[in-house]
Amino acid sequence: MLGGAMEQNKPIQSKEEAIHLLNIALEHEWAVSFEYTIHAYSMPKGKFLYQDPIMQKTTDVRAQTIQIGIDEMYHSLQLGIIIKQMGGEPSFKTDKVIRYPKIMDNLKRDQETEDMVTNLYQSAEFEEGVFPKIQNMILNISYDEVRHSDQFVAMMEAMKATGAKDDLCFQANPENAHKEEVQLLHEIMRLENELLHRYLYYTILFSEHQDLSQRLFKNSIDLMRSWDKNSGILIKLGDVVKIENAEKDADGVETSMNPMPSVYPGDDRMSTLETLIPAEEKLISAYEALIPMIPDGEIKEQLGIHLGLNREHVFTQHWLLNNAQKITGLK
Ligand SMILES: [Fe+2]
Ligand SMILES: [Fe+2]
Repeated sequence: MLGGAMEQNKPIQSKEEAIHLLNIALEHEWAVSFEYTIHAYSMPKGKFLYQDPIMQKTTDVRAQTIQIGIDEMYHSLQLGIIIKQMGGEPSFKTDKVIRYPKIMDNLKRDQETEDMVTNLYQSAEFEEGVFPKIQNMILNISYDEVRHSDQFVAMMEAMKATGAKDDLCFQANPENAHKEEVQLLHEIMRLENELLHRYLYYTILFSEHQDLSQRLFKNSIDLMRSWDKNSGILIKLGDVVKIENAEKDADGVETSMNPMPSVYPGDDRMSTLETLIPAEEKLISAYEALIPMIPDGEIKEQLGIHLGLNREHVFTQHWLLNNAQKITGLK
């Protein structure tokens, strides 16, 4: 899909053509930001180490895969903001997300994706001088992808060298299907995934109101951190992060075309701010239901931190809405 759009015969000339190209790239970036974090959360922490060719230090495969996923999220934000500034509508659809049973197969897919996207970004042709900033942005992003590919290659080489090439991802213990606390945690992560992307959508929507945009971005980052910690808690509970709407085939390969919602409520400041308070409250209720089911200890404490942050969000969102209502002429 990405290839079809970028490998056109004529250079990009019009704003519509540029927005179309950027949206196709954006759908790719959403998918990989998601896919890499899922791949990382499905492997053990601190077990697989490699020599990073760029940082020139011994690095954890899992930690760096998450870091690359975060880079991809920043690519999504950059693309989304520029699409909005050009008068387009940033897409929140995603390309396909896949998880293979073997860790190595996931890393291989990640590395091949990087090479494909580098090639496509670098071969996009623009009519000279028409969109210099976009052309520059695409080139800059492409060299992050070059780095990512080199890093994935080094990870795979190290895993092969240490005999870990057939190691498997974590699997959910079938008994967990009947454990209320595990299922509730999956539900919390689904809500967090929705809400963190919803905040990103609004971060893009309000990018010219930098104060509002930054506040919404901060909440998104908080939710990403909670989602990250929750994925670790799932492992401790004998489970693993789910990919939303995924189908599993006979070989255990999971594929999803919709790993996150593509449509979010609200289209201006007031309608957007009004939807966020009930969304945060729903998440708070889920945490309040889960925490009493968990025995005292590290997990319970961690969940309590997430709950506290969500309560902070409700306070902030309440005042963002109230303050906006006080100002005449605020759009
Ligand atoms: Fe990217
Ligand atoms: Fe990348």
